Amino acid sequence: MNEDLKALAREAVSASQASADPDYPLLHIVAPVGRLNDPNGLLIDGQEYHAFYQFSPFHPHRKLVYWGHVSSTDALHWQHHDPAVIPDSFYDRNGAYSGNAIVLEPGELGAAPGGGDYQLFYTGNLKDPVTDERTASQCLVTSTDLTEFTKWPDNPLIPNHPEGYTAHFRDPQVFRDPDRPGEFRMLLGVQRADETGAALLYRSTDLLNWKLEGELTFPDADGAFDRFGYMWECPGIVRLRDEATGQDWDVLIWCPQGIDPDKEGYETIFACTYIVGHLVGTEFRDCDGTFHEVDRGFEFYAPQAFARRTTEPGAVVLVGWAGSAGEDDQPSIETGGWVHALTVPRALSLRDGRLVQRPLPAVSQGAGALSVAGQELAAGEYPIAELTDSRSWYLQLETAPATGSWGLRIGSQDSHVDIRIEDGRLIVDRSTSRYTQHGARRVVTLPEGCSSRLEVLHDRSITELFLGDGDLALTLRSFVDPRTCGATLVVEDGLQLRSASARTHD
Ligand code: FRU
Repeated sequence: MNEDLKALAREAVSASQASADPDYPLLHIVAPVGRLNDPNGLLIDGQEYHAFYQFSPFHPHRKLVYWGHVSSTDALHWQHHDPAVIPDSFYDRNGAYSGNAIVLEPGELGAAPGGGDYQLFYTGNLKDPVTDERTASQCLVTSTDLTEFTKWPDNPLIPNHPEGYTAHFRDPQVFRDPDRPGEFRMLLGVQRADETGAALLYRSTDLLNWKLEGELTFPDADGAFDRFGYMWECPGIVRLRDEATGQDWDVLIWCPQGIDPDKEGYETIFACTYIVGHLVGTEFRDCDGTFHEVDRGFEFYAPQAFARRTTEPGAVVLVGWAGSAGEDDQPSIETGGWVHALTVPRALSLRDGRLVQRPLPAVSQGAGALSVAGQELAAGEYPIAELTDSRSWYLQLETAPATGSWGLRIGSQDSHVDIRIEDGRLIVDRSTSRYTQHGARRVVTLPEGCSSRLEVLHDRSITELFLGDGDLALTLRSFVDPRTCGATLVVEDGLQLRSASARTHD
């Protein structure tokens, strides 16, 4: 096994035809070839955004996960780089799995591991070739310049799962402890020995030596999360200020596999949920057991927030995987040899205890008023003239309250995605598109107080919808007829368009 895995990945990338595929997005992070899944190691450094992601360059022929790497100065257009983590060590031979990044300030740690500001944590996945038994370990990669990446020579930092848990022990999120300056915590998704999901917390002062603190518990949740699915993937905690109350809260965002709540939503194979409370020690307090889905779309999973320098504070910005495990059967595998995308970065906030997600200003910047803005529209179809030649665009529409049903058609008469607002519900139907096998229609009750504003970011084969002022997000892959452009406003009983603006991105 003396393969040069970096060279093999480079060869796969240089032979790729993906960017010539008319479905290949322009504003979303996509792999240069093969398969992409979770976002990893997201960080903002000065004017640069860096994103890493689960990258399988040889998909579907060979399953081996690297960390792919892209960077951007506007959070919209991404430049590909060589993969940053290559699964060629004894502890990650079967994949460099998900994790996050932390950006140190010079001098923050007496001696930063590897002497660099950039510390990337990930899970080394190993399977015994004979018994197929899994070992999961937590590992470190450091960088001084985000060009060269060096595995910590004493990897793994945490060689194995603790007693009472299975080898489903992965996806580290390392963060500074806001309550204990100079200390770091690592949150991990795990499976208990009794095959229920949980999260563990570790603590460190040097990023190298990690001590198990214990399981994350929910003292005020009345047992709601004690047996909540069979495995928790990609847990992350962010601190947000509630816009309505001014109070600070911790928000746990995670992917509990195998839940089937008796309420609207949860239609994707694996859900991504959040709860709001306060992390004190290993207790997640003040959460009464209420949980919500982060995004109501067909494809959304494993999101994570960008790490920032402490000297460059700013909004908490989140990116998710617009995909679901096991759902790789998308048209782009045939047409371009690539599959899946990440969402655009979204600024997070809280309002009255509910998560708010808004696309970054770069998405809508420069949007001009549409000719239909401010008009009273009779029943009929109105192609949006400003988008006639575009397949990557942003559109914002706001109607007068209590208006009748109306919608937007993306694509052609025969192959499209229909977005309709009707009686306080959002209905998304992609049943005539080229990708229907994992859900064709969603009906979503709009959250209370959600205004009649619809924002749409459509980028060739991915569409993100935001309702109200970031009150609801819905992500979907939208493989419509690639020969059609723009969108058509479909009015059923007359519509008062308060405001309407759009911009193209291609
Ligand atoms: C989530 C996940 C993670 C894991 C990675 C492997 O999609 O299963 O738990 O680290 O993907 O690619």
